[in-house]
Amino acid sequence: MKTVFSGIKPTGNLGLGNYLGAFKAWGNLQNEYTCIYSVVDLHALTIRNDPQTLKENSRKIIMLYMAAGIDPQKSIIYLQSHVPAHSQLSWILGCHSYMGELSRMTQYKEKSENNENVNAGLFTYPVLMAADILLYNTHVVPVGEDQIQHVELARDIALRFNNIYGNILVVPEAKTASKLTARLKGLQNPTKKMDKSTKDPLDTIFLLDTEAEITKKIKRAVTDSEARVYYDTENKPGISNLLAIYAAITNKTIEDSELDFQNKSYGDFKQSLIEVVLGELNPLQKEFNRLSQDTAYVDNIIIKNAQRAEEIAEKTLAKVQNALGIGK
Ligand code: TRP
Repeated sequence: MKTVFSGIKPTGNLGLGNYLGAFKAWGNLQNEYTCIYSVVDLHALTIRNDPQTLKENSRKIIMLYMAAGIDPQKSIIYLQSHVPAHSQLSWILGCHSYMGELSRMTQYKEKSENNENVNAGLFTYPVLMAADILLYNTHVVPVGEDQIQHVELARDIALRFNNIYGNILVVPEAKTASKLTARLKGLQNPTKKMDKSTKDPLDTIFLLDTEAEITKKIKRAVTDSEARVYYDTENKPGISNLLAIYAAITNKTIEDSELDFQNKSYGDFKQSLIEVVLGELNPLQKEFNRLSQDTAYVDNIIIKNAQRAEEIAEKTLAKVQNALGIGK
């Protein structure tokens, strides 16, 4: 079986955008691929975190992975910092990356503007990400559109490395989620990405929001004055975004979703959407809450899965070190 690898950074609370655009679909890949899903806590260090909060967030994501149907016996879910090979390979790959190509990364350019903490980690972030991917002989990397450039860099680094040292690294490919879900927009700012680190709490539905919060956020979501439900991102960004959420959760096409609300008011549409979102998140939250009570079980999953990850990672690292004439 080919290998899928992806990761989520444990900063902020995960929102509906992360879920529908990413890990809701990850569970479905488990029968076709060997799946490895990381919580990339080293990547989180490019900003200052409260240590306790970082720890809790990382654990929350492991539990959300499980609650979303990722089976920790079949797939590997683990914390990046538990496997030292990530940092070790990252240094080596950094010596095979160029200042020029790293300077061209869009995310780096954006994050280094208007930022007081432009640390070197922000610059080498994509090198660590390449190490994540390449350690596990990954074929496919499911990511949002904003991360494609980073996966392509990982490809370039792997090809370059293989050119010099022989065929050692598997060359990965990015795979984006369906166009609609990959681009969920804010409920208050429907022309901007639904962002988990938003300043406006009404903008994002968080996965662990209460029923009352979800209801309020959808009721207050920005629409328009036309009072007809159809998809037109130019003129009706708010309604189009709500339709995209509805379609993503119900697995319907946009056309079928429009038909569901042909002669309905925005109020009726929003009410249906509230039910659909709650119907999706209720079971997820229930399972999350159950896991939260079972500390010993989750601890064990985290330890065992890190060992499984480490076994694979160590092999790749040893091959790389050997090719370079370093290591034991
Ligand atoms: N950079 C990714 C993001 O911000 C997270 C990430 C880190 C990742 N390492 C990865 C994603 C490896 C896929 C594969 O979303």
